[in-house]
Amino acid sequence: MGVIINCKHLRLFLFLLWAILALSCKDNTVAVQEPEPSSEYTPLRSVAPFPVGVALQSNRLSSGPHSQVVRTVFSSVTAEYEMKMRHLTDPSGNYVWGPTDALVAFAKEYDMQVHGHTLVWHQSTPSWLENFSGTDAEFEDAVEDYITNVVGRYKDDVVSWDVINEAFEDGSGALRNSVFRRRMGPDYIARLFQYARNADPDVLLFYNDYGTIWDAAKRDAMFSMIDDLQTRGIPIDGIGLQMHITYNTPSLNNIVAVMDAIVQRGLLIHISEMDVRVNPQGDLSELTTGRSELQKQRVKDIVMAFMDLPEANQFAITWWGLRDPESWLIDFWGNPEWGLLFDAEYRPKPAYDGFLEALTEN
Ligand code: G3I
Repeated sequence: MGVIINCKHLRLFLFLLWAILALSCKDNTVAVQEPEPSSEYTPLRSVAPFPVGVALQSNRLSSGPHSQVVRTVFSSVTAEYEMKMRHLTDPSGNYVWGPTDALVAFAKEYDMQVHGHTLVWHQSTPSWLENFSGTDAEFEDAVEDYITNVVGRYKDDVVSWDVINEAFEDGSGALRNSVFRRRMGPDYIARLFQYARNADPDVLLFYNDYGTIWDAAKRDAMFSMIDDLQTRGIPIDGIGLQMHITYNTPSLNNIVAVMDAIVQRGLLIHISEMDVRVNPQGDLSELTTGRSELQKQRVKDIVMAFMDLPEANQFAITWWGLRDPESWLIDFWGNPEWGLLFDAEYRPKPAYDGFLEALTEN
C-alpha cells in the first residue's frame, strides 16, 4: 500500500533527516580553541598612536597562544630578564647571546620594536663583576667594554636602553651603594650614559625606576641627577616610570605631576613595567567583578593621561607580562594577584577594554 507523501511531509522528513545527520556529525569533543586575537578583540597595536609593549621571556616564544597573542596585540617587547648583565654573561664573563638574539629575531619578524632592559642594575650584577679582582680603572674598563659590546651588537635592532635601573635608595634618595658606585665613584651614572652613547649615536637612552611618584626623596634625587646630566651635556633621552601600581594608589594627580615634570625637561616618557595590583591587602582569593572594574578604570585613566602628554614625549606603554598567572607580583607580594591585561586563558580582561576605550574615546 503506497504511502501518500505530500510536499509538506517530504520537506519535514528531509529537515528531520538533515538535523539528525548534523547532530550525529557534531564533534562531541570540546576542542580547546586557541585564541584568535584578530577575531575576538581589537589588537592594541592597531589603534594605539604609540608603541604598546610587553615583557617577554625567550622560553615563551614557541608556545602557540602566548607568542600569538603577543605578536598580535603588542608592538614592542622588553626582555623580562634575559637582557640583564647576569643573564647576558656566564659566571666567567663570556657572553650568552642566544636568548636575546631569539627575542630580537621574534620582534623583527613581527614588526615589533625592542626596548633594552637593562645595561646596569645592582640586582642583576654578575659574580664576575661583583667580585672583580682588578683595579677600579680595570673595573670601569670592563663595564665600558660590556656596554660597548651589548649596545653595539643590537645597534640596529634595539631602539632604546635602560642604561641604569633603580640607582637610588627608597626613602632617602641616596645613590645605592652598588659595586658600580663603590668602584667607579659617585659620578658613575654620567659615564654609563656616555659609554652607551659612544656605542650607538642613535639609540635612545633612559633612566628607569619605580617609586618616583610616591617617594619624594627618590623623585627629587632622580630629577636632580637629570638636571645635572642635562646641564653637563651628558646624553639622556627619557625616563622610565615603571608604574607598578595598585587599583587605587598612587593618585592620578601625582602620576600626572611627575610626567609633566619630565615633559618640562624635554624628555621621553616610558611607562615601562605597568601592572595594576587589585589585591594589595590580600583580601581577595579570586578576582571579583568589582575589583576588575576598578582596575579597568585605573588603566583607562592612566592611558588617557599618557595620551594627554605632548606626542613628542610619548615613548611607549609597556606591560610587565602578558597573563595574570605569569606576573612577578604573585611571588613578590605573596598574595593571589591579577595585575595584567589577560587572564590565565589568554582572554582579555576588562582592564584591556579600559586600555582600548582610552585609545578610541580620546
Ligand atoms: O627561566 C629561568 C629558569 O630556566 C631557571 O631554571 C631559573 C633558575 O635560574 O631562572 C629562571 O629565570 C628567572 C626569571 O625571572 C624567570 O622566572 C630568573 O632566575 C629570575 O632572576 C627572573 O626574575 C626577574 C627579575 O626582574 C630579576 O631579573 C623577573 O622575571 C622580572 O619580572 C623582574 O623584573 C624587574 C625589572 O627588571 C625591574 N623592575 C622590577 C621588576 C620586578 O622585580
